[in-house]
Amino acid sequence: MNLFTSKADVVITCPKRLGTYLEQEVTELGFTTGKTFLTGVCTQGTINDCIKLNLNLRCASQVLYSLKKFEARNADEIYEHLVNYAWEDILPDPGYFSITSNVNNPTINNSMFANLRVKDAIVDRLREKRGTRPSTGAALSGAVFNLFWENDAAEVFIDTSGPSLARHGYRKIPGQAPMLEALAAATILATKWDRTSAFVNPMCGSGTIAIEAAMIATNRRPGLFRTNYAFMHLQGYDESVYLQEDALLETQIIDVPGLRIIATDYSERAIENAKKNAVAAGVANLIEFAVCDFADSEVPAGVPGMFYVNPEYGERLGDIRELEETYSRIGDFMKKKCGGYHGYVFTGNLDLAKKIGLKASRRFEFYNSTIDCRLLEYELYSGSRTAPKGEVITN
Ligand SMILES: C[S@@+](CC[C@H](N)C(=O)[O-])C[C@H]1O[C@@H](n2cnc3c(N)ncnc32)[C@H](O)[C@@H]1O
Repeated sequence: MNLFTSKADVVITCPKRLGTYLEQEVTELGFTTGKTFLTGVCTQGTINDCIKLNLNLRCASQVLYSLKKFEARNADEIYEHLVNYAWEDILPDPGYFSITSNVNNPTINNSMFANLRVKDAIVDRLREKRGTRPSTGAALSGAVFNLFWENDAAEVFIDTSGPSLARHGYRKIPGQAPMLEALAAATILATKWDRTSAFVNPMCGSGTIAIEAAMIATNRRPGLFRTNYAFMHLQGYDESVYLQEDALLETQIIDVPGLRIIATDYSERAIENAKKNAVAAGVANLIEFAVCDFADSEVPAGVPGMFYVNPEYGERLGDIRELEETYSRIGDFMKKKCGGYHGYVFTGNLDLAKKIGLKASRRFEFYNSTIDCRLLEYELYSGSRTAPKGEVITN
């Protein structure tokens, strides 16, 4: 059976809470989705389909192709099921592979043990069939197999991605508290931005939000920056399929005449780094960078437009007092300077968000790493908007 052309269940994983946005992307690529959950989406496809998914998705972490589902009460049963599988049809000779897992089984308190049993099964089978031992290790630079094992239900996948797709590969200099690229992309997909009107991103840090906005507007896909995927290390890999998908990425880029993306930060170093990251992403000519206080950022005339800011959340008390002032100034700025725009604030501190002093029209739940965060949406009406007497302004 040629896995590159045979359909199987495909599970696409993503950082927690990006499932909805990932589903939207997978559907737009022409796939029919099944179950969508907080950390992923189910669909069906061949490994050639997985190549397309790997190159195009902005919100994904891993594209997993299902090989085998079975019942296993303990790690020895995992071994018994897998030692009889035809791994010689999947791994080239000589080959290198790694094992990853998500394990929740009462007999296992260290998932490394489960990984070891999977690895042993594959190595033993290949040694018996080929007389040679494949090399293995933790670096996800070759073929990768993933074990999902919950209670007695086990499933083994080919991880067609390897290193996470959630990093888009252009960010050479991360700066302080950078947003994960997949998260930045998902937050933009959640907004009302029409991808042609002005996008103003003060406090841009390493530039992730502005760069992702430029990539989304011009249909530049993360695959443009990456040259190694785990699917390339499987038996039967046909480079011409990958090269064709890769070439498509270039031809799909669109020009957006008059697009203005403005990214500012009061830190000179942050802007220097953001510029370098934008160059690596091929979008430096699309972003106007400036060093300034956020309140001095240019807000182009004409509506609608986007104002999107990701201020610090603060961890020490002293910081919080200063940040309360900053959040209050953000509210004033949006009210006075961004009339007719859609305003967005991404924060992990809802108490600070209250200082913005405007009522959010929508809130989107996200995680930034392990921090529970919100993307708050504000409809900023033209002219100065103050709350009518008696209206309680909360977030
Ligand atoms: C949480 S970081 C933004 C991280 C960014 N989203 C990224 O992915 O790199 C907040 C940024 O706000 C900047 N900043 C803080 N106060 C500012 C102010 N008053 N005016 C302009 N920039 C400010 C900091 O220099 C920092 O780069």
